[in-house]
Amino acid sequence: MISQELNDTLTRIGPGTDAGAVHRLYWQPAALSDELMTARPVVPVTLLGERLVLFRNEDGALGLIGRHCPHRGADLCYGRLEDNGLRCPFHGWHFDRTGQCLEQPGEPEGSRMHEQIRSVSYPVVERNGIVWAYMGPGDPPPFPNFDCFRAPDTHVFAFKGLWECNWLQAMEVGIDPAHASFLHRFLQDEDPADSYGKQFRDKAGNTEIPMTKLLRDYPRPDIMVDEAPHGMRLTALRRMEDGRTHVRITNHIFPHAICIPMSREMTITQWHVPIDDTHCYWYSMFTSFGAPVDKAKMRDQRLREHRLPDYAPLKNARNNYGYDPDEQRAATYTGMGLDINVHDQWAVESMGAIQDRTQEHLGKTDVGIIRYRRMLRDAIAKVKEGRLSELPMRNGVDPATISGPLSNDAIAPDGNWEEVNAASDASRRDACPWDARL
Ligand code: FES
Ligand SMILES: [Fe+2]
Repeated sequence: MISQELNDTLTRIGPGTDAGAVHRLYWQPAALSDELMTARPVVPVTLLGERLVLFRNEDGALGLIGRHCPHRGADLCYGRLEDNGLRCPFHGWHFDRTGQCLEQPGEPEGSRMHEQIRSVSYPVVERNGIVWAYMGPGDPPPFPNFDCFRAPDTHVFAFKGLWECNWLQAMEVGIDPAHASFLHRFLQDEDPADSYGKQFRDKAGNTEIPMTKLLRDYPRPDIMVDEAPHGMRLTALRRMEDGRTHVRITNHIFPHAICIPMSREMTITQWHVPIDDTHCYWYSMFTSFGAPVDKAKMRDQRLREHRLPDYAPLKNARNNYGYDPDEQRAATYTGMGLDINVHDQWAVESMGAIQDRTQEHLGKTDVGIIRYRRMLRDAIAKVKEGRLSELPMRNGVDPATISGPLSNDAIAPDGNWEEVNAASDASRRDACPWDARL
């Protein structure tokens, strides 16, 4: 339980807010590359409470500038994409990708007023299917050498989805290893052969045990949290009755991402990006250590559950997330179908637009959440004191050395889980077609 004041401090992300100042020091996913694959690549982007427009000019370069025209505020998402920039349809003012106004065709001949007119603009880069924006002061930090950035484009698939709630509660579900035994419980096990592209549906570790069964049978994990160069490493141990230990390593990447194992072949690196205080997008990068990702299949699986252009899930609060009490009795813990994204979405949206943390009661299994909030408070204090170089991944460590992060499931024959897990991860990295060595 925390005070209302602290809850506001941790959750609000608009310009001038404390948590917003921390987020602005890191690259933010702004759009999927898929969204720009149209005849007119112009996309509205609302990020950290700021209304922006993303576009690709005729030179192929990306620009991210203010949504509202600096003249009288018309929406530049309806702009004319021409003359290597974006032209406001109201009076024809023309902006390049840096936000500079180059032309005001209705102003008197020879006017140089446009030289003084500039829209807000932020640097953007495209990496493995996502367009990233840096909205902070100074130079953006280099990208860490994470698997999702290191892998070739063929081995990474990116997708996103809208959740109608504050980013913090969305992110906190990802650092809560205990919920998988309940929220995502299947009362019957599927054939793991039908698991491609789905989470928690593969076999556990190197065994024949479906992950669904293992999570169901062992609902009381020991959870340990360690600080890591990228944020936090979470270890969940499930002691099995035959003496074996299931170990699952997941990660928090500061400030608002997680990296978790999806299957033997793939990991998921997922950002929970604030749109504004009460909406967020998850952006996932599915990274394969084996065959190239079957992007068509994975895109198709997810497009069936989402509507375009805003990637809003078809199951949502307006249709009770497809809740079916008969299914809840017989097949799933939630009664909301087999797509675990819907389960997580219900869990975080049903808390309310911004969870009232003055009423919560955290238990021992919430250790990752407790630790993360402490890290965020610490980062807020450092930003206020101007000690930016002490923040995670901005603290002078060469980003090329921040790799992984190791995310893996394994089953150790005895208590020696650390060694077994490291060997299990190393074996897939050794066999990986791209250089995934840690
Ligand atoms: S409002 Fe955009 S040119 Fe006038
Ligand atoms: Fe979940």
